[in-house]
Amino acid sequence: MASGAAAPPRPLNRAVIFLGPPGAGKGTQAKIVARTYGVPHLSTGDMLRDHVSRRTELGNRARPIMERGDLVPDEIVLGMVEERLSRADCRNGFVFDGFPRTLNQAERLALILDGLSFPRPQVIHFVVDREQLFKRMTGRRTCKVGGEIYNIYDGPPRVPGRCDNDGGELEQRADDREEVIAERLAAYDRQTQPLVEYYRRQHLLEDLNGMQGPEAVTRVLLEMLAKA
Ligand code: AP5
Repeated sequence: MASGAAAPPRPLNRAVIFLGPPGAGKGTQAKIVARTYGVPHLSTGDMLRDHVSRRTELGNRARPIMERGDLVPDEIVLGMVEERLSRADCRNGFVFDGFPRTLNQAERLALILDGLSFPRPQVIHFVVDREQLFKRMTGRRTCKVGGEIYNIYDGPPRVPGRCDNDGGELEQRADDREEVIAERLAAYDRQTQPLVEYYRRQHLLEDLNGMQGPEAVTRVLLEMLAKA
């Protein structure tokens, strides 16, 4: 190895869960961690948006729910996740972004991981204040081709409206409109926030200060993963 090159990390061999409110930076960091460890990034939001854009039956059921900022029913999400985890690329671990989001999903996940003989998950809780969340969501733009995430305020692309990686057109998510953001935050408080205590009680959860810039968050996060 050339001197100064970073050593590759040990295999992940576990489920890592990114828990935190919408706009906290989970997707941005999950892509980096998944690339670093060579494991799949499992975003239930991305899976659902893919179904919506292909107008599958599942997508047609999920679309109006997502557009008003509510959570999609557990049985839809769990079916999608179980199918995804049965694929061979998940055998060395994976990063969940946006799942689980209800107590029922968390309890079912524990059973699924047991069935796969995986150890208990490592849960990273992204802590970001409301004002910052709002700014991040209203400023978010996503590449239509590769899904790369930008922010027009804090992390704009080199050419406005175009992805730095593949030149793809950048779009605003349908649920990043101000009135929907308020609903999504309310759904988080009601249904997902209780998971913080659920995982904390089991000593599986670590808090991460998500208010720092993206590079600082990545640095801290990779240290947390390496230590586990
Ligand atoms: P989903 O796609 O999961 O969205 P979310 O959880 O609401 O999270 P976001 O994608 O909005 O935020 P993020 O934390 O990933 O932030 P990002 O990295 O993009 O869910 C969408 C919908 O699908 C839900 O509302 C629900 O209807 C349904 N759904 C999904 N999963 C479900 C489930 N399990 N059960 C039921 N329903 C489900 O960053 C945001 C912005 O901030 C970007 O512009 C980024 O560039 C910027 N940014 C990131 N990090 C930083 C930083 N450190 N400093 C400054 N800016 C930053």
